[in-house]
Order: sequence, then C-alpha cells, then structure tokens
Amino acid sequence: MQKTVTKHNHFYVTTPIYYVTARPHLGSLYSTVLADMLARYAQLRGKKSYFVTGTDEHGQKVANAAAQAGKNPKRFVDGFIPVYKEAWQQYEIAYQRFIRTTDVDHVHGAQHFIQQLIDTGAVYKDTYRGWYCTPCETFVTDKLVHDTPVGSIPACASCGRPTEQLEETSYFFRLSAYQDKLLSFYQENPHFVAPRERLNEVISFVKEGLKDLSISRTTVKWGIPFPGDPEHTLYVWAEALTNYITALGYGSADTSRMNEFWPADVQVLGKDIVRFHAVCWPALLMAAGLPVPKRLLVHGWIQIDKQKMSKSLGNAIDPVPLGNEYGVEEIRYFFARYLPVNQDAEFSIPALERAIESDLANDLGNLLNRMTLLATKYNVAELSYDAAQSDAAKTVHALLQATVHDFTHQWNDCQFHVALATVWNYIRHINSYFHSAQPWKVVKDDPQTFAQILGITAGSLHAVALMLWPVLPQKMAALLASLGVTLELGADQLADITATLAHQRYQLTVIPPLFNKPLTMQEKTMHEQAPKTDDVAHKEQTFITIDDVMKVELLVGTIQECVTVPDSDKLLKLTVDLGQAEPRTIFSGIKKWFAPSDLIGTQAVFVTNLQPRKMLGTFSEGMMMCAQDAEGKPWPVRPPAGVPNGTRLK
Ligand code: MSP
Repeated sequence: MQKTVTKHNHFYVTTPIYYVTARPHLGSLYSTVLADMLARYAQLRGKKSYFVTGTDEHGQKVANAAAQAGKNPKRFVDGFIPVYKEAWQQYEIAYQRFIRTTDVDHVHGAQHFIQQLIDTGAVYKDTYRGWYCTPCETFVTDKLVHDTPVGSIPACASCGRPTEQLEETSYFFRLSAYQDKLLSFYQENPHFVAPRERLNEVISFVKEGLKDLSISRTTVKWGIPFPGDPEHTLYVWAEALTNYITALGYGSADTSRMNEFWPADVQVLGKDIVRFHAVCWPALLMAAGLPVPKRLLVHGWIQIDKQKMSKSLGNAIDPVPLGNEYGVEEIRYFFARYLPVNQDAEFSIPALERAIESDLANDLGNLLNRMTLLATKYNVAELSYDAAQSDAAKTVHALLQATVHDFTHQWNDCQFHVALATVWNYIRHINSYFHSAQPWKVVKDDPQTFAQILGITAGSLHAVALMLWPVLPQKMAALLASLGVTLELGADQLADITATLAHQRYQLTVIPPLFNKPLTMQEKTMHEQAPKTDDVAHKEQTFITIDDVMKVELLVGTIQECVTVPDSDKLLKLTVDLGQAEPRTIFSGIKKWFAPSDLIGTQAVFVTNLQPRKMLGTFSEGMMMCAQDAEGKPWPVRPPAGVPNGTRLK
C-alpha cells in the first residue's frame, strides 16, 4: 500500500496556480504568503527548499475573460504575468519557479502524464452528459448541484452560479476504481490533510462513491491538445494539477529535481479546491505510479463582512496599494496571526491597524528601541546572554525553551496563529522582565548588572527574530543587524537555541523604528481632506509636471521702500529691487501683521511673472511669497544672507 516517502533535508512547497482573469487579490496573496512562510521556515530549519507558484492559463473561464477583453487568450494572459510577479515581489515571495501552464515544458509534461495514464489503461473514451460550471471549471455531478436551482438550471454547489448543460465526447479517467485505495491511503496517512476536519470531509465524500472524471473537452479550444487526439483539449484541471510535477521537470530529459523534491512536503490550497487536490490528484498520481504529496494545507476563505472575498463579488482588495499603505510584512504578519488557517476569517482594516500598533510597534519595536537607545547612551561595547545570572534571567530562559518547543510543534501542525501567539506571550514576558529590571536605574551603581540585563534582552530578541523570520523576513533581518547578528541559513537555527545564544556576542546599534504606527483617525481625516491620489480627476489637480513648476518665476528681491496704503486696511505697497534695471511695485496683504519698518531693507522671494493687476489705481507687478501659520500670520520667505537680488529659485 502506498505510503508517503520522506526526504529529510529537502522541502517542496507549492501554491495553487491562479486563474489569470484579473489582478491578484488578497485571497490569492494569502495562499502565496502561507507557502512563502513555509519555504522560509524550512530554510530556517536548515533544509533545502523549492517553492513553486504560477498561473493557470487555459480553459473556458480564461478564454471567456479574454474574449470579453477583446484579446486573444495568450496575449490576454501575458498581460497579467508582470502584474502577478510584481505583486509577489512586493510581498517578498521568494519562489524558485513561477510556472505558467502555457510554458512549453508544462505542455509537454502534462501530455506525457496523460500518456502514462492511457498506457496503463486508466483512460477510456465515452460521452459526458451533465452540467458544467465554467467559473469553477468543474463537471457538476449530482452530488455537487445546489438544492436551489437558478430557474430550471442547477446551480453550482461551490459558487452558486448557474451551470450549463454539456453533451460531448470525452476521455475519462477511471477515478471510481480508486475509491478503496484512497480510503486506505487516508487511513494510513492521517496527516495528509491539515487541518484534520477537512480530511474527515474528504473521507465522507469518497465513501459516498466516486464517478469517473472527464479529462478532455472538444468544445474548448484554448487548451493543451490531448495526446493522440487533437480534436480534444485536456480538461483544464487535469493538466493544471500536473504543474506541481512539471515544474520539477517531470516528463523532460532532466528528472534530477523531480527525484530530489517529489513528493511535495506541503501543497497549500483553499478549501474550495480540496476535492481536486485530496481526491483526484492522489488518484491520478497513483495511476501514473508516482508518490502522493505528504501534506495538503487547506485554508479557509478571507471574508469581508462575512462574505468570501472574490473578484466576482466585487469585494476584492488589491494587495498592492494595501501593502504600500500599511507595509507588506505587516500584512504578512496579520495573515499569519489573525487569519487562522482552519477557519474562514474576517479581514478588516481596524483589526490590521490594531495588530500593527499593539503587537508590532509597541510590544516588539519599542522594546528593541528602548534597549538599543540605552546601550548607545551608556556606550555598551559588547554584550552576552548569560541565562544563569539571576533568577529573573533563569525564568526568561526557561520560558524561551518552552516557547521554542511549543512554537515548533504548533508551526509543524500548521497552526501558525497559535505559534505566533506563543511567541508574543514570550515577547510580553521579555517586556515585563526589562521593565522590572529597570536597567536605566541600575546603570548608575552597577554597570555589570546593567550589561547583563541588556544581554538577556538582546539574546531574547535574537531568538524572537529567528522564530519570526519566516513571516517578517526583512524586519527580522534588520532587528538582527541592530543586535550585531547576521542570519546565516544552512544549519538548523532553532535546534539548540541555548547554545546559539550562549555563543553569540551582541553589539547594539539604534535603527529607525521597525514598525510605523498607523495614522490616527484625526491624521486620516486630514489626509482625506486633501485630494485623493487614486481619483483621476483629483490627480490632475494634485500633480503638476516640472514644466509647470518652471512656469513660475520666483526671484530674490530686497524691499527698498514700504508704505501703508491709506484706503486699505490690508495692503502694504512695496518697492522691490529684483536686480533688474528698475525696481518694481508689489502690493502685499500683510498690513495687519507688519509695520513698514519691519520690512524695509529685508530680502524675500517674489513671484515676478504674475499677470500685473491694478490695485487702488496702481499696478502690482508681482507677489511676495509667505508661509502662513495656523493663525493665518504670514511669514515672508527669506533666502539665506548673501543671495544676490534677482537670483531665481528652482
Ligand atoms: N486555478 C485553480 C487552481 C488550480 S491548482 C492546480 C484556482 N484558481 S483561483 O485563482 O480561482 O484560486 C486559487 C486559490 O486562491 C485557491 O486556493 C482559492 O481558495 C484561493 N482564494 C481565492 N479567493 C480566496 C479568498 N477569498 N480567501 C482565501 N483564499 C481564496 O482555483
């Protein structure tokens, strides 16, 4: 019977490949961040990791979207690839391969895979009569039809949209023959699906009986030709699933990567596609004589106001501006800590802001800042972590050992939110230790104890940064650098934390705050009153080009004379030397604030190409530039001493 194979020092992780019908949204980012965290964690534990993500580009759904955009499908999907890659780069997604199902090696690999199935007799030709859901690219069997039809047409149980009726010749894979094999496989590999509840759902589904799976289409032209029968294209799911092995070179001349990394250690996916991955995929692999992945990590949906976030519902959040506003690692942290993988979870801006302010900026960022400031103030040269130096330090160290132990178990169990809560419990303890030890008082009488307190704090933060590195890679690298530590991947960093800290010497430097607190409501209101940059109409008002700037002639001038204007309570009349043949007359509405004697003989900056305007019978030939404070008081803009009259500002 099939058992999963273990290759201890290698780690292969994948994401689902995304339909390229629109830009990525927070849901696709979520799957991708989870996979990235897993790959980085494997590296932290000294493993060699391989991480694959990519795009699912064939099939009717993509073809329809391309037609709607008036584009040929290949050109249409090509346009989205840089968008995906840039978004993933922004979020520090460190994949080794970005696979596109239109890549030549995938096309060959997928055909090779299907040929294997044909050769082993796992495929036969027949007619498919039934329902099909194009948005889900799913043959909707009776079991998957929703109770409430849309008119006379059954609705898809997964997305609720109307299905369409199909009757076409098709090649079928003998999925029904794998019912017992799958059930024994699940029994022998209870960790195949995480969380466990999802496996129970899969088991009940399989127990109800499996139907053979149609793996080709004749009416869909945008697809990979079926081997030996080009009238058919491969059913999009049948070829898409094979990306997980074609990305490793399956079906090519070079199978070294396949030998090194297959079976996958973790395949990340959302709960909507669990049956394809937990039922069809293992059966297909068994039929082709290949090992089955070790684990599927099935996550819930990100919701907005209790509804699944999706492009079709129109509630999708674009990760790019969100990352620009709040910071990408802050969002990675929020995903891992506050969206438990086993549940559908609500994404909300106030919750994100709370997490950034309270967990990241206050608990972690402030502690680092306070410690490094103290070390710099008192010129501490080098520190070490001496866990035995006091009872309080012993307690901190005991908690650290328990934390690393619990954290690794919780992480291995894919309970990232619990693992991070464990780390935060420890961070809060270091904060109380630091606070109670009062190093800022101790320093005066006992510099040695002072250094020991800082050493314990620095070592503790070192351990924290290691555990958090998979989630917050750049921030934790910066934290480590401010302790004088370089992260060297290669060996297992968490295997013996006591020895790691004991051997390290810390040299602290102050760095800019690791995390910025989100703006307060009041600050936001001020921002909102300013024109919004995402509004095109406003954009044109807000941004000007350099040419626009250069249109304004700003010159330095000296106020030679200044008199009050008898009929005006606002105006002063200035005579200004702008380094030109004749001085100019310029009126300024600053009488309320300045007497002529305040201004005579001083320099200021003037707009000198303003349309002359008649004021009280005389032309004003320019404008004096002033900064206006909150009370409305103008402050003439003055150049530094020595700038000649007539000098232009640019
Ligand atoms: N192309 C298929 C996958 C083929 S894998 C061989 C597909 N693509 S998808 O773009 O529709 O979805 C990809 C992944 O994004 C799925 O895991 C799905 O669960 C996830 N998400 C889409 N919306 C989501 C949320 N609102 N929340 C969390 N994940 C969601 O299915």
